[in-house]
Amino acid sequence: MNVIEVLELSKHYGAKKAVDDISFAVEQGQVFGFLGPNGSGKTTTIGLLLGVINKTKGVIKLFESDDLDSARLRIGATLETPNFYPYLSGFENLKIVAKIKGASEKQIHNALELVGLSARAKSPFRTYSLGMKQRLALAAATLSNPDLVILDEPTNGLDPDGIRDVRQIIKRLADEGKTIFLSSHLLSEVEQVCTHVAVIKNGKLLKSGRVKDLVSRNPFALVRAEDNEKLRATLETYPETLSVSSEGDCVLAELKSENLSALNQFLAERGVFVSHLALRKKSLEEAFVEITQSLN
Ligand SMILES: Nc1ncnc2c1ncn2[C@@H]1O[C@H](COP(=O)(O)OP(=O)(O)OP(=O)(O)O)[C@@H](O)[C@H]1O
Ligand SMILES: [Mg+2]
Repeated sequence: MNVIEVLELSKHYGAKKAVDDISFAVEQGQVFGFLGPNGSGKTTTIGLLLGVINKTKGVIKLFESDDLDSARLRIGATLETPNFYPYLSGFENLKIVAKIKGASEKQIHNALELVGLSARAKSPFRTYSLGMKQRLALAAATLSNPDLVILDEPTNGLDPDGIRDVRQIIKRLADEGKTIFLSSHLLSEVEQVCTHVAVIKNGKLLKSGRVKDLVSRNPFALVRAEDNEKLRATLETYPETLSVSSEGDCVLAELKSENLSALNQFLAERGVFVSHLALRKKSLEEAFVEITQSLN
């Protein structure tokens, strides 16, 4: 099931195209990274998904429904700067959120536990460190047990310990079966946390796919043949193949070694003659740099 589906979505501010005709889909259970440099349109996109910013044009579907108001009740989210009352404690702040979301006191305690804030729940928010503030925002986002968790740069401003903690929280949420959509300008974060990624720059979506396909240090062979079905099946029997997927009108085979002539011979001996065969070897970092530079 598509938890998020976005079609030709745009947000213009006068002549500025903050989000420019983007389309993507997030399936249930994915940890989807929305990766882009500063000012690329990440927060704007999240604002559009949450309905706090009005779109200029395009279609948003949530949980395969056009009834976005109802669907948004199943979302827990953090936006750029968490808004809490400084003089109230973390617990009291969550009580206010719980009232709005219809969450119980037990859910407040569970959320505080999840983010590791139980011990400091009674301290005023203004005495919290940045890391603790971020955690409280995460607690607020997960309070009513949402099916979809949307996080805007959840590790922004955190030290390495804080980053590790947030990463673990995200993993726990994913293990519970929640779908997670998070924005980041950090490749390493997306590499470590996400199953899928979309790269955005200047409001345009440049690439999306499985992180595994983009980060692998293994070589890939991009292959095309008359009969791609047969090609796929044959590639799966090749001893050097690690995984097979498709990309456009080609088949992408992840290989243990980059000997393409051996692969070509293997295919030819089984009656598969390729019309295209190319090597691809890329980390997400290289891919990201290449992708984001291609637009300059
Ligand atoms: N209310 C607004 N009015 C005019 N321009 C805006 C407005 N909000 C955002 N923009 C512009 O739209 C573009 C995208 O902004 P956005 O905040 O979505 O980027 P971002 O990817 O979240 O960046 P960052 O990583 O810095 O948070 C930027 O050029 C920004 O200046
Ligand atoms: Mg932002």
